[in-house]
Amino acid sequence: MLLLLLLLVMLQTILTLTLTYDDFCYDDGQCDPYAWGDMFPSCHPLLDAHHSPIDLGWQQVRDAQLDELQLSGFNSTPKGQWRLTNQGHSVVLEVGGGLSVSGGGLPGLYRTVQLHFHWGSASTNGSEHTLLLQRFPMEMHIVSIKSSHPNLTAALDDPTGLAVLAIFIDLSYMDNENFQPISSALPFITYRGQEKSIRPFPLLTLLPQANLSQYYRYHGSLTTPPCSHAVLWTIYEMPISISWAQFEPFVSGIYSTEEGAEPAALLQNNFRHIHRTYSHVYASKHARLLSSAPLFTTCPVTLPLFLILTALRSAFSTLNW
Ligand SMILES: *[C@@H]1O[C@H](CO)[C@@H](O)[C@H](O)[C@H]1NC(C)=O
Ligand SMILES: *[C@@H]1O[C@H](CO)[C@@H](O)[C@H](O)[C@H]1NC(C)=O
Ligand SMILES: *[C@@H]1O[C@H](CO)[C@@H](O)[C@H](O)[C@H]1NC(C)=O
Ligand SMILES: [Zn+2]
Repeated sequence: MLLLLLLLVMLQTILTLTLTYDDFCYDDGQCDPYAWGDMFPSCHPLLDAHHSPIDLGWQQVRDAQLDELQLSGFNSTPKGQWRLTNQGHSVVLEVGGGLSVSGGGLPGLYRTVQLHFHWGSASTNGSEHTLLLQRFPMEMHIVSIKSSHPNLTAALDDPTGLAVLAIFIDLSYMDNENFQPISSALPFITYRGQEKSIRPFPLLTLLPQANLSQYYRYHGSLTTPPCSHAVLWTIYEMPISISWAQFEPFVSGIYSTEEGAEPAALLQNNFRHIHRTYSHVYASKHARLLSSAPLFTTCPVTLPLFLILTALRSAFSTLNW
């Protein structure tokens, strides 16, 4: 018994020593999102109520103070080069300096450092957040660090250390010209660790430009290890659209393994499951309020239906999707 215990402790130590932030996955019970909590305490679902992603909808509160964010530098073409990298669990575009995010209820200025993507497969949607339980084909995250922190490590210790803008990506029959610099670079970063320089472009062109004042806000976490509860999320209500030809290189052209590795593994479904949230989700001044609360104030017949739906909803949300 003691020996077994010792063995277990040793095994645990070895695992802890060999696993770094990069040693997580989406498709294997040993390292998938349900196992992250074993290695990264903040990923454990029981620890605290600020997990991401969540479903947006039912628990929203209007905050009329939430105006459009100031996206400084997003409308110009920065100098130098950007770098697109296959990091094995996502495709990351590092955007250099000169971009920042503030306003819209954020406590200060946040320097924009990178953006990356989450996707499903050719036949399944892969956004991280869901809108009234609808999952979009993809989701883009634009990550910014509070400017008072010298580095990411320091920011992760601050409950509002990061601001992430989330943009849903839908599919349409038309190419999105603004998305072309990214999709055309994907064939160069097929395998983990590969990177490609990209000529900078105005980042604003990747956002839902006509509807920037419509968004949802809540306090959550990173959706990848170490799952730090350090993120102020801004989730734009309106998606952007790309064509199938621009989408397909993500779901069937990006590998989570290095070149030559056997077996080679496609990176698919790189999203974390939905979590229950106990914090408020705020709808910006101009966002559509998704909450179903007004249902029974206008029509008494719908009250029982609302109660049933609410009960179903809480029954479901205790499960981990
Ligand atoms: C997947 O995305 C498509 C396109 O936006 C949408 O029509 C469909 O309802 C989504 N499926 C699910 C299960 O959310
Ligand atoms: C990050 O910043 C903190 C606070 O200034 C500092 O103590 C730490 O050494 C820095 N870490 C790295 C990796 O640069
Ligand atoms: C998006 O913004 C435009 C311009 O302000 C507006 O006319 C349109 O109704 C918005 N779309 C939605 C679905 O709210
Ligand atoms: Zn992300």
